[in-house]
Amino acid sequence: MSTEQQVTWRSPSNIALIKYWGKKGHQLPSNASLSFTLDQAYTDMSLAWEHSSGQGIDLDFFFEGEPNEKFKAKIEKFLNSLLPEMPWLQEWKLTIRSSNSFPHSTGIASSASSMSALALCLCSMKQQVLGRLLDEEEFYQMASHLARLGSGSAARSVYGGITVWGEVHNVPGSSDEYAVPLVKGIDPQFLTFHDSVLIVSRDEKAVSSRAGHALMNGHPYAEARYANAQRNMDNLIYAMQTGNMDEFIKIVESEALELHALMMISDPSVVLFKPNTWEIINRLRTFREETGYNVCFTLDAGPNVHVLYPDAIKDEVESFINDQLIVYCDRNYRIADRVGKGPVKK
Ligand code: DP6
Repeated sequence: MSTEQQVTWRSPSNIALIKYWGKKGHQLPSNASLSFTLDQAYTDMSLAWEHSSGQGIDLDFFFEGEPNEKFKAKIEKFLNSLLPEMPWLQEWKLTIRSSNSFPHSTGIASSASSMSALALCLCSMKQQVLGRLLDEEEFYQMASHLARLGSGSAARSVYGGITVWGEVHNVPGSSDEYAVPLVKGIDPQFLTFHDSVLIVSRDEKAVSSRAGHALMNGHPYAEARYANAQRNMDNLIYAMQTGNMDEFIKIVESEALELHALMMISDPSVVLFKPNTWEIINRLRTFREETGYNVCFTLDAGPNVHVLYPDAIKDEVESFINDQLIVYCDRNYRIADRVGKGPVKK
């Protein structure tokens, strides 16, 4: 009889509207961030364990069915860093099998979905091996905390809908240590939002997130940025509570452009925009002016454009994307996503 036990989680990626850019201390954010949890871009991860008598982390890792040494090394390092708070991990031989719903080299960040999936698996494992059930709030709080240690943005993926990571004065329970879901008083139309990700380039990221955040150390506009992020956070939450679409659009686009402006004027200077990124942004703004539709864009640390719009205007915006924007995508590639309900245990 095998003594192996296992858990499986499906955890989604997320797209930040207020950007996390710059960190302090041990994986703590320099400013609070807010995101939509996605639905279609997710990681499926299973974690199996059986007794081992070894010291340190003993891990086998498979990505999309194949052993993957690069990802294994990253996860091993992360698990070793967790040993002070999870010493029981070294009593087990671990096998992780992971796969993503989205192709690897599409410029879609996979650290948020994969690190949140791993954190959720570790929390489920902890409950089983220590035989102590956590209540739901404690469980997700711990998962978000662990996910954050793996990758900051992953902290936000353990909840569905809209999530805030970092202390915000008018979000009760918010913390720099873990994310919280933002539910109270939000106009429901924001939970119907679609995110069409227009893939301008599938190249590997030109700047790693670690190097990216480090660009904020000693940045001449760092303090102005953190103050602005705080103001944008307050105003964005208020806009979502009052259903103020014009204000929502203004802040979301400004956050995306500020992220890239900060990168462009850092030392070293990093330019991730491609000519087609500008084409898409300009055409989208013209379309909005001409039609009055509530459609806007945001950007990750890359050239791809996330087009955001409520379900009520889905058909109109999708025809516009197909008619006018898709030609600027790499081999007409786009990923259709929307706000999702958060991770699921399988
Ligand atoms: C531009 O979460 O990838 O996507 O904590 O170093 O893993 P690490 O960084 P990461 O940074 C995400 C940066 C961003 C903005 C955001 O998601 O808030």
